[in-house]
Amino acid sequence: MKILEGKNALITGASRGIGRAIAVTLASHGAGIAFTDLAYDEQAKSLEEEIGKLGVKVKGYASNAARFDETEKVASEVANEFGTIDILVNNAGITRDTLLMRMNEEQWDTVINVNLKSVFNFTKAVQKYMLKQRSGSIINMSSVVGVSGNAGQANYAASKAGIIGFTKSVAREMGSRNVRCNAVAPGFIMTDMTASLPDDVREQWIAGIPLRRGGTPEDVANVTLFLASDLSAYISGQVISVCGGMKT
Ligand code: NAI
Repeated sequence: MKILEGKNALITGASRGIGRAIAVTLASHGAGIAFTDLAYDEQAKSLEEEIGKLGVKVKGYASNAARFDETEKVASEVANEFGTIDILVNNAGITRDTLLMRMNEEQWDTVINVNLKSVFNFTKAVQKYMLKQRSGSIINMSSVVGVSGNAGQANYAASKAGIIGFTKSVAREMGSRNVRCNAVAPGFIMTDMTASLPDDVREQWIAGIPLRRGGTPEDVANVTLFLASDLSAYISGQVISVCGGMKT
């Protein structure tokens, strides 16, 4: 039997990158997959097709994770369609990098709303289903810079550090109902998000990684699979780095 058979996962921002790898990995271990992204576009449709071939239920939803009102609606549609929501992966995230000296209010607010408020929105919308069924695993995508900080990313690092405080609080609030909440802190992962960095910056990052390579979306997806499954039944409130040994 596959380790996620009989479970359903809701993953935000999953049309590409890390979210997409998570969707495919959880599906290949038996989970039904509901995923969101800003638009239900060609990428979303191709993910539905890819996952459909794995023989599990799959459905993509257009949803802006930063919008509280939209989130409640999407979560209830997913619950109706799939019956249960056993796993929530809060993955949607963006960067608007610049030095604080140049950072404007819009760059601050957008990053906080998309990266941090979205985690509140979806966790709040899904918690009632998990509390009722007395089981659930919530996995929040933080970042190593949420732990260490990073020049030029004050907005992003603040959002990712906020996710860690939120994760630990939810783990304490919901643990008595067998709902677990953990954060994953990826280091330098090769996706569209990091592809936009100048070559010299990318090389500098990789030179500082003991394993001497950027991570793949699958590296992050494998840890998410562990946290989603009962293999991690006694793990809650933790932050697990996936960073090739960069942060110890
Ligand atoms: P990506 O940019 O390749 O993919 C992000 C996805 O989220 C896209 O499909 C995008 O359309 C979607 N999205 C953006 N705003 C959204 C919104 N408001 N509502 C719903 N969906 C939205 O990014 P990547 O690299 O796959 O990152 C995924 C997560 O991992 C993010 O939270 C990111 O901060 C985090 N992360 C990434 C690292 C990296 O090196 N790539 C390192 C550490 C953390």
